[in-house]
Amino acid sequence: MDVLIIERSGPLGGSVRVGGAKNAALPIMAACLLTDEQSIIERVPRVTDVGTMANILHGLGLEIAWEHDALVATPGPVQGWTAPYELVSMMRASICVLGPLLARHGRARVSMPGGCIIGPRPIDLHLKGLEAMGASIEIDHGDIVARADRLKGATIHLGGPSGSSVLATANVMMAATLADGTTIIEHAACEPEVVDLANCLIRMGAKISGHGTPVIHIEGVSKLGGARHRIITDRIEAGTLMIATAMLAGDVMLEGAMPEYLGAVIDKLIEARVTIEGSAQGIRVHSTGRVKAVDITTLPFPGFPTDLQAQMMAMMAVSDGVSIVTEKIYPERFMHVAELRRMGASITREGPSAIIKGVDQLGGAPVMATDLRASAALVLAGLVADKQTQLGGLEHLDRGYERIEEKLSQLGAKLRRERASLEDECRPMLQCN
Ligand code: EPZ
Repeated sequence: MDVLIIERSGPLGGSVRVGGAKNAALPIMAACLLTDEQSIIERVPRVTDVGTMANILHGLGLEIAWEHDALVATPGPVQGWTAPYELVSMMRASICVLGPLLARHGRARVSMPGGCIIGPRPIDLHLKGLEAMGASIEIDHGDIVARADRLKGATIHLGGPSGSSVLATANVMMAATLADGTTIIEHAACEPEVVDLANCLIRMGAKISGHGTPVIHIEGVSKLGGARHRIITDRIEAGTLMIATAMLAGDVMLEGAMPEYLGAVIDKLIEARVTIEGSAQGIRVHSTGRVKAVDITTLPFPGFPTDLQAQMMAMMAVSDGVSIVTEKIYPERFMHVAELRRMGASITREGPSAIIKGVDQLGGAPVMATDLRASAALVLAGLVADKQTQLGGLEHLDRGYERIEEKLSQLGAKLRRERASLEDECRPMLQCN
């Protein structure tokens, strides 16, 4: 597998364009199952999660083709309703084909999404919402088997122990677009990606209001058409590049970044003595490089996003002072702590929190990514470390970031992708024996 060779870098300068949001693209791709007409989705990032979803849709009878940065989804003559384990197990977001399949075909067989390194990923809220609309659901040898002659509108409370659920809101909202009557989703997720999905569904002919607030109203219609929709920009990629600039010093313009999607992140970076200017063109970040320690607690939108927790921890590792990072969405999302420690970070765990004491310098080292956002945190740590860092496990990084090493290099960072030698490939196994 490839490795990233990362050298101490900075200051950063110049501008880079932020790509389309992976977490908006995935449910919007699933929404193409709701119609027998062609849809065109623009600004789709070329990340492996999108490839996995495209393979799942292909298996369900949609022809998927790329046209520049747009995905063209064309329903074929034969449509299926089974999403197989070998694909669903690669990506939890596959679960959001369940609602569209049920709404369109009255049945669905979707493999239960597997475990996940960032912690348990239950789907009880997804199933609760679909059952409330009249679906009968059973688990058959690891598969969710759902049936419904005709989904009926219902009032559904979708709050869970950690608050709202992004993909459960997406699943239920998509199913409700073709149900009989009106569905009200209470304690709905307010994330920008949910709003983007709703806007795409409205372009397809759905009747939705309240999206972006905790109460969403969906009035079922008999049919949906195809649509052309441009995905919002990726607030997590933007946040990652903002934190990179904060850590490495510099003056960077992130074109297309949406300040209204990043309020909690901007607030924390300003508290850490970073200068941020938001505008219609994007977000400008200016930093001297030495940031102040700040505390963060992850929460559903508009709170601080859990998907930027690991990256923020990398910044706190080289900040002035002591910070506490509390993870309220996935209390086990700390796989990056061990690797950051190997680079000299001073981090201790206390239940759902980590206490980080800023150090003057991290040390470059060979490190291994464990999950998507942890891999981004290790890239950032490597860019401020004193010696070279080799980052393996890039399959995690490539799930959600499209050529991030090229975007960082465009801003002046020194990192490159190399193919690992066979010896490198074997080293982890040798260490285990
Ligand atoms: C989405 O996952 C994102 N993924 C995640 O991004 C993100 O971390 C998460 O939302 C939270 O913002 C996509 O959009 C593809 P949830 P999702 O349902 O929808 C609990 C990344 O790095 N819960 O909002 O699966 C759950 O355990 C990924 O890009 C239930 O209890 O997350 C968690 O504590 C990682 N029952 C909380 O809700 C359920 O049925 C929020 O999870 C579903 C969720």
